[in-house]
Amino acid sequence: MRRKIEEFTFLLVLTSLLITTTFSNAMDVINTTHMITDGHTLISSDGSFELGFFSPANSKNRYVGIWYKKVTAFTVVWVANRDNPLTNTSGAVLKVIEPGILALLNGSNSMIWSSNTSGVARTPVAQLLDSGNLVVKEANDDNSDKYLWQSFDYPTDTLLPGMKLGRNFVTGYETYITAWKSSEDPGTGDYAYHLDPTGYPQAVLTRRSVELFRSGPWNGVGYSGLPSLKNNSIYTFELVFNKNEAYYHYELLNKSVFSRLSVNQSGVAQRWTWVDRTQGWIMHLTAPVDNCDSYKQCGAYGTCNIYDSPICGCLTKFIPRNPDEWMAADWSDGCVRRAPLDCRSDGFQKYTDIKLPDTKYSWFNTSMTLEECQVEYIKDCNCTAYTNLDIRRGGSGCLLWFGDLVDIKVVYGAGQDLYIRVASSEVDSNGEKRKTLIAVLTSLAGISLLGLSLILFIWKMKKNYENMRKQGHREGQEEDLELPTFDLLAITRATNSFATSYKLGEGGFGPVYRGMLEDGKEIAVKRLSRTSLQGLDEFKNEVICIANLQHRNLVRLLGCCIQGEEKMLIYEYMPNGSLDLILFDKRKSKQLDWPKRFHIINGIARGLLYLHQDSLLRIIHRDLKASNILLDADMNPKISDFGMARSFAGNETEANTMRVVGTYGYMSPEYAIDGLFSVKSDVYSFGVLVLEIVSGQKNRGFRHKDHQHNLLGHAWMQHKERRSMDLVDVNLVGSFTFSEVVRSIHVALLCVQQSPEDRPSMSSVVLMLGSEGTLPQPKQPGFFTERDVFAAESTTSTKASSSNNVTITLLDAR
Ligand SMILES: *[C@@H]1O[C@H](CO)[C@@H](O)[C@H](O)[C@H]1NC(C)=O
Ligand SMILES: *[C@@H]1O[C@H](CO)[C@@H](O)[C@H](O)[C@H]1NC(C)=O
Ligand SMILES: *[C@@H]1O[C@H](CO)[C@@H](O)[C@H](O)[C@H]1NC(C)=O
Ligand SMILES: *[C@@H]1O[C@H](CO)[C@@H](O)[C@H](O)[C@H]1NC(C)=O
Ligand SMILES: *[C@@H]1O[C@H](CO)[C@@H](O)[C@H](O)[C@H]1NC(C)=O
Ligand SMILES: *[C@@H]1O[C@H](CO)[C@@H](O)[C@H](O)[C@H]1NC(C)=O
Ligand SMILES: *[C@@H]1O[C@H](CO)[C@@H](O)[C@H](O)[C@H]1NC(C)=O
Ligand SMILES: *[C@@H]1O[C@H](CO)[C@@H](O)[C@H](O)[C@H]1NC(C)=O
Ligand SMILES: *[C@@H]1O[C@H](CO)[C@@H](O)[C@H](O)[C@H]1NC(C)=O
Repeated sequence: MRRKIEEFTFLLVLTSLLITTTFSNAMDVINTTHMITDGHTLISSDGSFELGFFSPANSKNRYVGIWYKKVTAFTVVWVANRDNPLTNTSGAVLKVIEPGILALLNGSNSMIWSSNTSGVARTPVAQLLDSGNLVVKEANDDNSDKYLWQSFDYPTDTLLPGMKLGRNFVTGYETYITAWKSSEDPGTGDYAYHLDPTGYPQAVLTRRSVELFRSGPWNGVGYSGLPSLKNNSIYTFELVFNKNEAYYHYELLNKSVFSRLSVNQSGVAQRWTWVDRTQGWIMHLTAPVDNCDSYKQCGAYGTCNIYDSPICGCLTKFIPRNPDEWMAADWSDGCVRRAPLDCRSDGFQKYTDIKLPDTKYSWFNTSMTLEECQVEYIKDCNCTAYTNLDIRRGGSGCLLWFGDLVDIKVVYGAGQDLYIRVASSEVDSNGEKRKTLIAVLTSLAGISLLGLSLILFIWKMKKNYENMRKQGHREGQEEDLELPTFDLLAITRATNSFATSYKLGEGGFGPVYRGMLEDGKEIAVKRLSRTSLQGLDEFKNEVICIANLQHRNLVRLLGCCIQGEEKMLIYEYMPNGSLDLILFDKRKSKQLDWPKRFHIINGIARGLLYLHQDSLLRIIHRDLKASNILLDADMNPKISDFGMARSFAGNETEANTMRVVGTYGYMSPEYAIDGLFSVKSDVYSFGVLVLEIVSGQKNRGFRHKDHQHNLLGHAWMQHKERRSMDLVDVNLVGSFTFSEVVRSIHVALLCVQQSPEDRPSMSSVVLMLGSEGTLPQPKQPGFFTERDVFAAESTTSTKASSSNNVTITLLDAR
């Protein structure tokens, strides 16, 4: 049949050649008599897309393709003859032949490429639509259901808005994108991106049909393992899944902002948005994201955590199937249950923060609740796990796994819950541990009371110490103390007698050591130096402030050790050290991708909000800076060093000091110049810190070839010129979410405004960082040129007794 059509069209071509003409003015339609040749193009009616002959970089071959007309960087989104290039376009034409075939013919009228048209038209035409879709249809019939053929059904490497990535169950036809072979050859490459609806829909990357990566199943909001694909200001997206079809598609919110999804020649799916001629295309989403995304990396019941070394582990309550191979980093055999199932009395154990396992062998029910699922499927011994199908509105439906669970990854803060079948003895009785609340002194209202409590505290500590001495340094007398005390001997042993090699750095009032207690717990010890004059004050201050605070974004004080002349504070140890050591290090900063940085920004904001508003003693930190932000093993930020902090009473909002302490570059103008501090001076420091985190550069010491401004000034100028993205650390390209970065910069600029009244409170900051609402325009920042900073320096040095009190970090690990 097909051969017949070809022969038939060949004849038609010969006859029509005699009567056809080409045209040169901008048109979006070709028909049987009007065709295009090399040098001529079709342009969609609104001028968005252009179709014509092109050669990719360095190649002499000619292809017919579609590219953006309004984007100044030549970007091809579709290629007709991708696997069959023209070597000589002399005499070659793209034309419509009856009864509705779009064909590319070479100079000797051989068919180079043709549309796979189904159906016939009386007056067939091919039109390039504003969406970038090239369609063959009956002239004057714009009903999209009646298109004879459309390029959107045959994507190359780019998914444009409105295209479907998925499968039609009625026709069995699948649309998917396939990478180019190379930048010079748009031919069908090895890597393809599909939507696999088997079991339950998930996006899948393949190389020559072998699965390399999956996104995790759709959960109503996005893909379980791709938290970076989320609501944004550029496009909306959706998964359509019914009995006729399953597909992913997206639509632009503003048709004049160009954004596309494509797969590159190394098999990375990338989301690109066009900014302008200077900034070009910005990439703000990639998949796979990291090594943990390699399909089945850790085997069955293995779990991959990119922050661990090695990255593979067994789910808790599971052990390696083959321990020797596992130790040798061959994880392919995966893990098995520690306690075997017995089918009749098993239970389901909850696991959190999970990229859901492969759903190829899954089954789902949209109407069952999670509880019904548990009750129903505990009976089915073949059911290995279940979870909510849709996580919106508290969760609905049920997704069930039968068979081994493979390709599990830890996705902190964005993963899902998964209930896995385990032996009844393995099920935790009351699920999650209740967070223990700290006992706090409820009567503390003002600074005067604080003094009293300190006296009380030291008195108790002394009494306790005496008790302990009486009892020969035995432990167990700590019940009525707010703060546990540590034995000097234990600390001396833990730090190898305060060996230099155990020293982490120099804190505000003395050296900080790393140590390991008898039971293996790692600690950081801050030792009051006997030579430090202000040391004792700061020591006391730190004890008062932090002993009664507990928040996941504040460093935790474990206890103290006061014996004779020795005064020490014991903290939890932070394996990743302070933020400045990673952020400002060219090599190390690469490990801080955008999701981690945004997590850090949000963590600091929440820690500061707790200090300002939610803690019992409301506290102004006064020395917030990168070196006072410590990072735990999971890169959670913890504010540290409360030596300069001041608490303030409920109705008090600002105070004055003669002794300006803090660090230049982070100090607000009113504090540095007039010694006036308030919560808004912390907000200012926070703003500086955010700009440093986004740019990877220090505010103080920032240099730009075009001007004398510091980082604040630079950010402000870029913002005014709507070029905030220029500020972004080059290491972040590929990992950042456009809207989050722009928003962070905007919020930071609001925080560093000259006038304290204009700066938002930390509660507004937390809200602004987490929402999509519109933000007020920032006014000029304080201290935005280097000259201002130097001026401030001289002003303060006449005023303060120790103006150059550049404070040093508490726990500089490594
Ligand atoms: C093809 O299009 C041109 C220009 O619109 C028109 O003049 C011509 O009649 C059309 N040919 C056919 C066969 O419809
Ligand atoms: C292309 O083909 C034309 C005519 O068929 C011929 O004259 C010309 O030399 C060819 N060009 C090249 C570069 O082969
Ligand atoms: C046209 O294509 C055919 C088949 O690929 C080839 O044999 C012929 O040489 C080509 N003609 C020109 C002018 O390129
Ligand atoms: C042509 O279309 C039919 C159905 O429309 C489809 O089954 C076939 O695979 C298509 N062929 C190509 C080469 O795309
Ligand atoms: C995303 O935004 C749309 C409207 O723009 C809203 O209807 C939807 O609930 C949002 N989804 C989430 C998960 O926030
Ligand atoms: C769409 O984007 C263009 C270009 O950025 C802008 O000029 C226009 O105001 C936007 N339209 C809407 C409705 O946001
Ligand atoms: C594909 O994209 C990834 C990540 O964005 C990049 O590392 C890689 O070099 C790209 N490959 C090619 C061939 O451009
Ligand atoms: C889903 O579960 C409900 C309630 O158990 C049941 O009535 C329904 O048949 C199930 N649906 C499917 C498709 O099995
Ligand atoms: C469990 O799976 C086995 C093998 O696939 C099958 O024979 C058995 O009927 C299944 N049991 C249930 C309760 O579905």
